Amino acid sequence: MNEMTRNISVPNDWDRRGLPGWCYHSDALLELEKQHVFREHWQIACHLSDVPEPGNYITMDVVGERALILRDQGGIVRGFHNICRHRGSRVVADDKGTCRNALVCPFHGWVYNLDGTLRGAARPRSFPPLDKQEFGLMPLDLEVWMGFVFIRFAPGPQPSVADLMQPFATELGEYRTEEMVAAGNLWTQVSPVNWKSVRDVDNEGYHVAMAHPALQDLYGSTYYDEPFVNGLCRSFATYNPHAGRRWSVRNYVAIAPEATHLPEHLRRAWIYYGIFANAVIAVTPEAVQFYQEFPLSTGKTLLRGGIYRYHDETREQRAARYLAHRIDRDTQAEDVQLTVWSNESMTSKAFSGFYLSDLEYGVRTHHDHLRAILPVMNLPKAPDERDMAEVNSQLRSAKP
Ligand code: FES
Ligand SMILES: [Fe+2]
Repeated sequence: MNEMTRNISVPNDWDRRGLPGWCYHSDALLELEKQHVFREHWQIACHLSDVPEPGNYITMDVVGERALILRDQGGIVRGFHNICRHRGSRVVADDKGTCRNALVCPFHGWVYNLDGTLRGAARPRSFPPLDKQEFGLMPLDLEVWMGFVFIRFAPGPQPSVADLMQPFATELGEYRTEEMVAAGNLWTQVSPVNWKSVRDVDNEGYHVAMAHPALQDLYGSTYYDEPFVNGLCRSFATYNPHAGRRWSVRNYVAIAPEATHLPEHLRRAWIYYGIFANAVIAVTPEAVQFYQEFPLSTGKTLLRGGIYRYHDETREQRAARYLAHRIDRDTQAEDVQLTVWSNESMTSKAFSGFYLSDLEYGVRTHHDHLRAILPVMNLPKAPDERDMAEVNSQLRSAKP
């Protein structure tokens, strides 16, 4: 039992079962999740350094929405729906690119300024006069926090990102992530499971000793999780400078330079900051990264993330970052396999729910957050798919 476990009191009536299995393969529930869990909550789109120069943009297609993040000519990073106001085409088609001083819709050629206002329609005399604002690109809620660009597709229950993330501000502030630069392109990968299975595995470290030999080698017994509270959780470990059963670990601890830019207690820390519902910002002494997941269907999930480095990275930091990435890559592949095995079982009649350890409170508290938003997830048996939204809203209004 580590220090953290001792400090967290687990109620007697603690439900060890987790969400019922039907929640992992209901299309009707997925529609509710897309709206209330994803669109109405802050999502990390990228880091400022993914769009470093005026005209740089990235796009992000998730949960039936298309986001465009763009740096305008004044250097301001803006977010828009990537939806032409003429007939809804994508205004930019690529994942990433640069536009000179305007965006030209590839369908009929409407032109937008980089601040989103309409510059003009093609063949403008075929229309009545078009108001530049009214027919401008629709803005997204956008907030930059410590260099990360957060967007929201619809208003929701969370406060500003700064308020939400305040409990992490001091510690994460030590890393000066706003000054970091992209260490590569944003990455995506598709995994054949429900998005919650991805999160369930990521939300607990109980499996580390068994399933992640490299991480276990690296951390020894220093790893602990904290549960979700007000939409945030945190996991913390320090690496053991004498570790080394694995090649990548042995070389990492040998090469990683003393992180004198960080306070003593963070110099060997690997920290994971969980952000409800679907994202993590993770730091090691030489890099920061984010990763997240979005449902593509009940049984398919888009994994997405980015890695950032110090702009004045030394050779040693670079080598350490490469080795840390190798450790992460192995860990992620192991996690994908675990999520597949866990998720597959949920369509079987023999699956009777989880039976969670006291160490898996990260899973439990994440499920609690979900149930607070979508109380239909409390029902042991699935309502009829056609009644899902109605049953959920009745339960929601019945809440004390
Ligand atoms: S849809 Fe964009 S110009 Fe027609
Ligand atoms: Fe894992």
